[in-house]
Amino acid sequence: MSRIVYVNGEYVPEEEAKVSVFDRGFLFADGVYEVTSVLGGKLIDFAGHAKRLSRSLAELEMDNPLSEDAWLEVHRELVARNGIDEGLVYLQVTRGAADRDFAYPKDASPTVVLFTQAKPGLADSPAAKVGIKVISIPDIRWGRRDIKTVQLLYPSMGKMAAKKAGADDAWMIEDGAVTEGTSNNAYIVKGRKIITRHLSNDILHGITRAAVLRFAREAQMEVEERAFTIDEAKVADEAFITSASTFVMPVVEIDGTALGDGTPGPVAARLREIYLEESRAVAV
Ligand code: PDD
Repeated sequence: MSRIVYVNGEYVPEEEAKVSVFDRGFLFADGVYEVTSVLGGKLIDFAGHAKRLSRSLAELEMDNPLSEDAWLEVHRELVARNGIDEGLVYLQVTRGAADRDFAYPKDASPTVVLFTQAKPGLADSPAAKVGIKVISIPDIRWGRRDIKTVQLLYPSMGKMAAKKAGADDAWMIEDGAVTEGTSNNAYIVKGRKIITRHLSNDILHGITRAAVLRFAREAQMEVEERAFTIDEAKVADEAFITSASTFVMPVVEIDGTALGDGTPGPVAARLREIYLEESRAVAV
């Protein structure tokens, strides 16, 4: 069945959705995006995603084409029109179409595209029950990973390297320390203490990360925000990742080394429960 997608103010069947070949998103990866999950037909952490979108746009000197309320309206309309109960809403804003030039065009208007992806069973994921395996790869991305741009080729290559190695995802390493996963934030647990890299330009400031750390602290769990090495991770009690599309997902193997007994740890399992429960309660 064809989806209804949103393109520059219009809701159209996906076959009819078009953007220009001169779009700077296509030519320069000159655009930003957000992914918001949907549970029970409602948006999870919407306000956080809307705020980060504004920040990403501002960092690239692009105007935000819609207000937070208008973004919410488009998200809700797409969820309704496509009958999404569990899934994702993908949003992308590019600088727009202009004759190819490295300098930003003066008068281009942004290209706005949103579409849904139905993911039945997203919350009750089988992967969350067994955990995922990760490999490590060097982090050779650019220095502004805090901006959520559509330059995703290296993370895509990392994901493929993981699959070729019989794993599920890759953690990226810089100066011996883990930055983040290809499309998620990375955590280890030692003696029940949750350790995750501190915020900087080196990683994306995950919206799920912010919520999970808040819930963890509220539940009196100890949290330490600092860089950790891949060697430290391999001897951790537990590990996990967070993102809008995986929520809290246990990691049970790193570079072929099993963590603990090779099954999801109690801290990750508990955080997944808390995150899903608390986020559903305030979903919009
Ligand atoms: N990725 N780090 C990177 C590099 C990411 O791409 C993502 C999200 C995250 C987690 O951020 P959040 O919790 O706000 O989803 C961290 C999305 C899901 C994606 O690219 O599909």
